[in-house]
Amino acid sequence: MSSQKPWSKESWRNFPALQQPNWPDQQAYQEALATLSQLPPLVFAGEIRDLKKQLAMASRGEAFLLQGGDCAESFSLCTAPVVRELLKVILQMTVILGYAGGKPVVKVGRMAGQYAKPRSADTEMVNGVELPSYRGDMVNSSEPTPEARRPDPQRLVKGYFLACATMNILRAFTRGGYAALDRVHAWNNEFVKNSPHGQMYEKLARQIEQAINFMRVVGLDTNIPQLTQASFFTSHEALLLGYEESLTRQDSTTGDWYDCSAHMLWIGERTRQVEGAHVEFFRGVHNPIGVKIGPNHDIDNVKRLISTLNPENEPGKLTLITRFGIKKIAEGLTPLVRSLKEEGFNLVWSCDPMHGNTYTSASGLKTRNFINILEEIRAFFEIHWQEGTVPGGVHFEMTGADVTECVGGGRDILDQQLGQRYMTMCDPRLNAEQSLELAFQIAELLRS
Ligand code: PEP
Ligand code: CO
Repeated sequence: MSSQKPWSKESWRNFPALQQPNWPDQQAYQEALATLSQLPPLVFAGEIRDLKKQLAMASRGEAFLLQGGDCAESFSLCTAPVVRELLKVILQMTVILGYAGGKPVVKVGRMAGQYAKPRSADTEMVNGVELPSYRGDMVNSSEPTPEARRPDPQRLVKGYFLACATMNILRAFTRGGYAALDRVHAWNNEFVKNSPHGQMYEKLARQIEQAINFMRVVGLDTNIPQLTQASFFTSHEALLLGYEESLTRQDSTTGDWYDCSAHMLWIGERTRQVEGAHVEFFRGVHNPIGVKIGPNHDIDNVKRLISTLNPENEPGKLTLITRFGIKKIAEGLTPLVRSLKEEGFNLVWSCDPMHGNTYTSASGLKTRNFINILEEIRAFFEIHWQEGTVPGGVHFEMTGADVTECVGGGRDILDQQLGQRYMTMCDPRLNAEQSLELAFQIAELLRS
């Protein structure tokens, strides 16, 4: 079995690695990797183990995973307000799922390193000119010129430092009082406050405030980390294997290897080949790993993938992030869940209702319809209930900004309005209001 074979953080190099940029200057690329391998880890093994414990709870239905953030983070938007606004929405959703849904929430951002994108083709046509595809800010610039699209290894180093800056402000916000539960009101976004779901959130926030006040009144200490801090983890698609290898370190207390670029890494739909370099690399690190699974999977292949990535069947180690789309979820998820259940695999089942529901609108912009997103989540819950497995989490592309990228939702964004504030670097995201609305709907599913 491949899991018995020797592994090192370099062994992936003997396997085919899809979706890697063609770095034109190989020497500059090697120098960038050498620089990265000397820099401090972004996260620590102890934190990663803590996340794994929380995910093990999610696999048993004792907690619920909420993973979300940009499709692609942008270097130029690594600012305190952008990070804070996204964190605020995630904290609000956590309150909704936790208070109304009754489950502890495992909070994982697509943040602090979500800088590399897989593409369906190496080149794309822009205004009649063939250019190398944009592969994320860690590789090249989205600007449509041949120079900007040239992969630049210095971007790997810059990406590390910006991930570090993001991580730092996230730690400050979550540990330094901003995420304290008695601040629940302050997380409500100005532009969401007066919407129906903003109002529902206000009501819930008032109840939580009263509960905390009551604890104080009866003499309970409310100055405890459970109330004053939030545990928050980072994740990104682990695409660029040179970068991931450079940040992979041996934990001094256990001797185990951890990819310290983020707490959780996921393998994308395009790079999850059992005999491929990505799977080879991730079978050896001890981080929790996600794998995206779309309609074009083969069940036996998925089984091999699971045995390779999690040979000990450790709970919390592996999250399957299914992304079928509303049209294909029933026919695709049911047999998959049934056969993996028979094998007794310990898994967190998470639903990505974004990537199977993307289409191009009449205006020419890539979008997703809120109703399809919601319906895929509902179908996900129903299939798991029916099969006796646990719907363990959700995976969203979302932002704290007031964007118009996905149609529908409470404010019913129309096709022709998409152009008003369409700001994404890659795929269309839910805005803060749409995200809250989904959280209320999921809370109801969690309660039932
Ligand atoms: C993504 O999460 O942005 C992505 C590319 O997803 P997938 O691998 O599922 O297509
Ligand atoms: Co995406």
